Amino acid sequence: MTTTTALDLADCQTLPLPDAGLSHGAIASVVGATTLVPLADGTTTTYANLDIAASAPALEAVAARIEQILPWYASVHRGAGYLSQVATSLYESARTIIAEFCGARSDDLTVIVRNTTDAVNLLATATPGDVLVLDVEHHANLLPWRTTEHQVTTVPAADTITETLSRLDEALQARSYALLAITGASNVTGEALPLSQVIDIAHRHGTRVLVDAAQLAPHRRFSIAELDIDYAVLSGHKLYAPYGAGVLVGRRDWLDQAPAYLAGGGAVSHVSNDDVSWQQGPARHEAGSPNVLGAVALATAAQVLTDIGDDRLQQHDQVLRTQLTDGLSKIDGVTIARIWQDSGEPVGVVTFEVADYEPGLVAMYLSAEHGIGVRDGKFCAHPLLRRIGLSDGAVRASIGLGTTSEHIDRLLVALQRLVTEGPREQYRVEGGAWVLANDRRPLPINLGLDELIATAAATCGQIRPPV
Ligand SMILES: Cc1ncc(COP(=O)(O)O)c(C=O)c1O
Repeated sequence: MTTTTALDLADCQTLPLPDAGLSHGAIASVVGATTLVPLADGTTTTYANLDIAASAPALEAVAARIEQILPWYASVHRGAGYLSQVATSLYESARTIIAEFCGARSDDLTVIVRNTTDAVNLLATATPGDVLVLDVEHHANLLPWRTTEHQVTTVPAADTITETLSRLDEALQARSYALLAITGASNVTGEALPLSQVIDIAHRHGTRVLVDAAQLAPHRRFSIAELDIDYAVLSGHKLYAPYGAGVLVGRRDWLDQAPAYLAGGGAVSHVSNDDVSWQQGPARHEAGSPNVLGAVALATAAQVLTDIGDDRLQQHDQVLRTQLTDGLSKIDGVTIARIWQDSGEPVGVVTFEVADYEPGLVAMYLSAEHGIGVRDGKFCAHPLLRRIGLSDGAVRASIGLGTTSEHIDRLLVALQRLVTEGPREQYRVEGGAWVLANDRRPLPINLGLDELIATAAATCGQIRPPV
């Protein structure tokens, strides 16, 4: 990105929310809802963040809570100082709130880790047998199973839920698996298998179930105890709490018997020159100084989502998703991806293709000409994308608490304009990625980026998300 003038975004937080002029607004205040972004034509607009499935903005309540506890920030589990004791209490009460949010059983463990990927890697080291997965999973729920000595079998999903459930049943019948690891909501289409049926089938075969709730938790309430889920994992940064924490919640026995996930201080009760006694419980896997801010942020987001309630959460998601899919299906050349013909109401994550336009070009056009953030690529779900005929990738728009009808409308108008008139600006491929030719959009001046602008100018076009 070449820079000419610097844009002063200092006032952006005080601007009123855009008037959607349409029925549906945000259901919670998120930080950055009024952030202005520059467009290729030299004007600015509020950012329409439709890339929530990748990372959600912080809730204002989360940011306020962090500011409130920062004066009390000190070491956790490591000090008699008053602040250390307060910080320890904050960390442990966050653990309890997160466990309640997930509907954990009283004897479940809640281990605070970095994110969903970390949580699945932890469970992979603790799983005492072979693992079954479907090919619809995010790489975070495919690759950690391949790093252990156990075998992982990947079953291709069928075109219908009914047939996919029979395939799982047959696979579990054919041989014994310790664990079935399954998504609670696809990060590509928002669809999911009916969890209670999956869990019934697995438990009938003596197999435990891990639910990857990274995309489920931000959109729907779920209960580990009520659904009889064995393990659930999720990420704070997808739950409006981007402070570096995630969790693994679930049955204690495997976790207590597993080798410590991280070896180091806090995970041990005794160390001599040739002997170590490892802790039981979450501490066994949480060596090093705990992320108290991340845990409190995650717990605060969990409280906000609980207060909003499942009905409102679902209604918001469904109204906007319907607006999006109805609008997309009216645009010539746009095709919406689906895994299953008979799936129930998916969460607010929608992937689509635009005929004659590469996904990277569509995403860059939406950003440069309309101030819309979407994700393009293969969404870290290569096996699924290949099977549903999207080997070259697609575009994903995702909905969150701060999404409004205006964001969706803007996306639909922009796509309609693209297919009828084409882009106004010139784009080219640079370093394998689509960039705006002669990009003169300035970087914000108030972020301490000024001295990095030259470096950014040299590399910006090549900064790409994982495929
Ligand atoms: C369904 C799903 N599982 C796992 C992950 C990995 O999450 P993280 O990057 O927070 O570890 C993602 C991230 O997009 C996801 O969508």
